[in-house]
Amino acid sequence: MSDLKSLLDNNRAWAEGIRAQDAEFFQTLARQQSPTYLWIGCSDSRMPATQLVGLAPGELFVHRNVANVVAHTDFNCLSVMQFAVDVLKVSHIIVCGHYGCGGVQAAMLNLKLGLIDNWLRHVQDVMRSHAALLSPIEDEAQRLNKLCELNVTEQVLSVARTTIVQSAWERGQELSVHGWIYRLDDGLLHDLSLSIANPEELSAAYAAVTKVTARGGASDGSFESAAEPTVR
Ligand code: CO
Repeated sequence: MSDLKSLLDNNRAWAEGIRAQDAEFFQTLARQQSPTYLWIGCSDSRMPATQLVGLAPGELFVHRNVANVVAHTDFNCLSVMQFAVDVLKVSHIIVCGHYGCGGVQAAMLNLKLGLIDNWLRHVQDVMRSHAALLSPIEDEAQRLNKLCELNVTEQVLSVARTTIVQSAWERGQELSVHGWIYRLDDGLLHDLSLSIANPEELSAAYAAVTKVTARGGASDGSFESAAEPTVR
């Protein structure tokens, strides 16, 4: 119980600190939120979305789940996206994975953890469709990190294919989808050079991913690794 009390104490101190700088902060925020970004990230406790990008409350709309999966049958994620795009009118959707992701690792090693195994089938689908690229990587940690990157790529494509994003583009709404990955051991985000802002860019991204995957081995610069990832 004392553990929980410390959380409530922390909260009071946090709120007081913010009010000391801006007495109206919470009243203003309570009336309206107008975030520019939707973040879709992993639930991992080491990836506190708003903190990582130095934003304040009210500036980042967030959805997180294990292994930052965007499944077209997940009404939770889709509802967050639909509200963010149609109502809040965010301009950017960022899918952010991280190296050394436990969810991606469980999928890769086909661990038996329970109900979560069903969720991670989505990541195993990613692994299967990129087998030619992944199989030659002998080092398990490197293979995991490549799969973490590919998982972000595939989820970015999934976001861009939703009726939500497609409809926004059709009506001329400015909206782009981005793939980023986070390194736990240095706290830095890396852009996977995958940004999609219209149907043409989606087609081009698909073509690039298919080309890289079909060939296997090193990529041609598209969706390149964010340099020597390491795993804890
Ligand atoms: Co994770």
